[in-house]
Amino acid sequence: MGSSETQVGIVGAGPAGLLLSHLLHQNGIHSIVLEVRSRAYCEERVRAGVLEYTSVELLRGAGVAERLDREGLLHGGIELGLDGERHRIPFAELTGKCVTVYGQQEVVRDLIRRRLADNGDLRFECGDVSLQQIDSGRPWIRVERDGQVDEVRCDFIAGCDGFHGISRASCPPGAFEIFDRVYPFAWLGILAEAAPSRDELLYMHHERGFALYSMRSPQITRLYLQCAPEENIDKWSDDRIWSELHTRLACSDGWKPTEGRILQKGITGMRSFVVEPLQYGRLFLAGDAAHIVPPTGAKGMNLAFADVHHLAKALHAFYRKADETRLREYSNTCLQRIWNAQRFSWWMTSLLHRFEQESPFDRRRQLAELRYLMSSRAAATDLAENYVGLPLEACIG
Ligand code: APR
Ligand code: PHB
Repeated sequence: MGSSETQVGIVGAGPAGLLLSHLLHQNGIHSIVLEVRSRAYCEERVRAGVLEYTSVELLRGAGVAERLDREGLLHGGIELGLDGERHRIPFAELTGKCVTVYGQQEVVRDLIRRRLADNGDLRFECGDVSLQQIDSGRPWIRVERDGQVDEVRCDFIAGCDGFHGISRASCPPGAFEIFDRVYPFAWLGILAEAAPSRDELLYMHHERGFALYSMRSPQITRLYLQCAPEENIDKWSDDRIWSELHTRLACSDGWKPTEGRILQKGITGMRSFVVEPLQYGRLFLAGDAAHIVPPTGAKGMNLAFADVHHLAKALHAFYRKADETRLREYSNTCLQRIWNAQRFSWWMTSLLHRFEQESPFDRRRQLAELRYLMSSRAAATDLAENYVGLPLEACIG
């Protein structure tokens, strides 16, 4: 049995855990990151891909945006599609800001490389991870790794282990209030070896269901189709996927997505989920461990970054000035941004998807809302401001 000591034990090496570890290091605070998966798995898992302006600024400020600045694709707007017509929402013109398309796994790669270059303690392929005495002043994490049991003793634990992690579940029943909504559809996503044939993302409303045209690099396209939550991916041959994409993304000017070899395909369910508060004893939750948004608003990774920005600041105040105010306020500070992102993601989702059970009234109302968005600068500015990301210290609600 081994034993390690650290100030902050971080569970999970996703965007939240890795950026937190890096920000703490920059403030002279020691952490150990414990991750069940291998480094290769974390670096290769294809997930989100849009960084808010706010997130890019945060990563730049933390000195980990060198490759992002070189390879990230700057997008000054998105397009919304209805009845085969596209309408551009010009973010740069409406807000002065852009978003950056850069895969989550690229951010993860950059952060891992940087943590290791700074001699960070990242432990991959941990077997069983469990949290102990989280409501005491000296919690610890029990880890089985390479057939050995290790005790990681810490002042605080950061639960950055995603939606299916153990942190939330380690707290007693009643520790959190849960807010949850499951949507009656999912996204079938593909990664295709095809040069993007549009410069920006296209969110298409269609009778047969929503479709999204996105990208990852000048060589790789990312596309999504709304499908049933119980859809069987084996029933979707490559031909069927392309045919459905062509139908839903068809534009009156003749534009269509360029086809390419499908490198990866998968189905993701859609839910909105929040726990309150983001703290139990000495455990602080951040990222997907605390909240899930449907991907339509592209907020998941960005919210994770905002959480750890606040957590790092709070821990810094604690260690530097013995000031616990920010730690006490951590949950409320994050929840304001989280609920605004929940509202925005729910709204984008409701606006663009086909709902099986909707009444003719709801259908007409949805189409009216889309047309309003396409014709009103005020409405478009609302979308743009939320999509590019509100300032980190902004107070809403
Ligand atoms: N012990 C240690 N690590 C764990 C455990 C566990 N018991 N359970 C899960 N993990 C790891 C996962 O393997 C994963 O690497 O925690 C990490 C959590 O990472 P993410 O799921 O990426 O969550 P987060 O860092 O909060 O980032 C949020 O992920 O789902 C996307 O859209 C979302 O982009 C957003 C981002
Ligand atoms: C993606 O490229 O994966 C992506 C883009 C925008 C979204 C969701 C996902 O809203």
